[in-house]
Amino acid sequence: MTVPTHVAIIMDGNGRWAAQRGWARIKGHKAGVQAVERILEAASDEGIQHLSLYAFSTENWKRPPAEVAALMALLRMYLRMFVHQLARKGIRFQHLGDLRGMPGGIQADIKTLEEATAGNTGMTFHLAVNYGSRLELAQAARRCVEDGLRPDQVDEAAFGDRLWTAGVPDVDLLIRTSGEHRISNFLLWQSAYAELYMTDILWPDFGPAALKEALEDYAQRERRFGGI
Ligand code: FPP
Repeated sequence: MTVPTHVAIIMDGNGRWAAQRGWARIKGHKAGVQAVERILEAASDEGIQHLSLYAFSTENWKRPPAEVAALMALLRMYLRMFVHQLARKGIRFQHLGDLRGMPGGIQADIKTLEEATAGNTGMTFHLAVNYGSRLELAQAARRCVEDGLRPDQVDEAAFGDRLWTAGVPDVDLLIRTSGEHRISNFLLWQSAYAELYMTDILWPDFGPAALKEALEDYAQRERRFGGI
């Protein structure tokens, strides 16, 4: 079976999962973190080399302050607790997004986890927090100018090298849970030729079997990258 090198997931549906049970939204996010744990394990076992998860977008700051604060607290807890899981599976951690726009404590935790896992040689886990694709593209353009590139030097490679994903292969398979059919400003450049897989499963219910189903679907696709 052809295994995608880079899988990206828009983890959606935590709020609805909680609402279905009459619970507060934050309970859905907590269950969402447990799903992250399971999927990290499963993706690494499936031989995926890069897994990108969309945890918090540049637009998510518009959510009610209490939900934002709860998500940030969960994130901090996660960054501290899961270092053991990453070590056990040899997973390297890399943040995607605008680090400076986040609370100082989280910035420090992200850097600590990146440094602690830098020598791991298994799958790379890219966690997108305060991530927006348009922001990433705009800052890459700015960096081309700052680096003094002449117009004829600004090509796809030079631009790609200035994205947060510099050196990371393009997305092969983009999964979105919870029945929504949107890309929501996630990895727009990197997903130019990604295969899309949308499922009705809500993120907290997305487990290893659901991942396997997505991978089997992907393996059936014929990718032509614009050719014939
Ligand atoms: C979308 O569900 C989910 C989010 C905005 C947050 C995703 C976050 C997690 C899975 C937990 C945090 C992860 C880590 C690694 C700490 P929604 O709230 O938009 O759900 P809804 O569409 O049903 O309302």
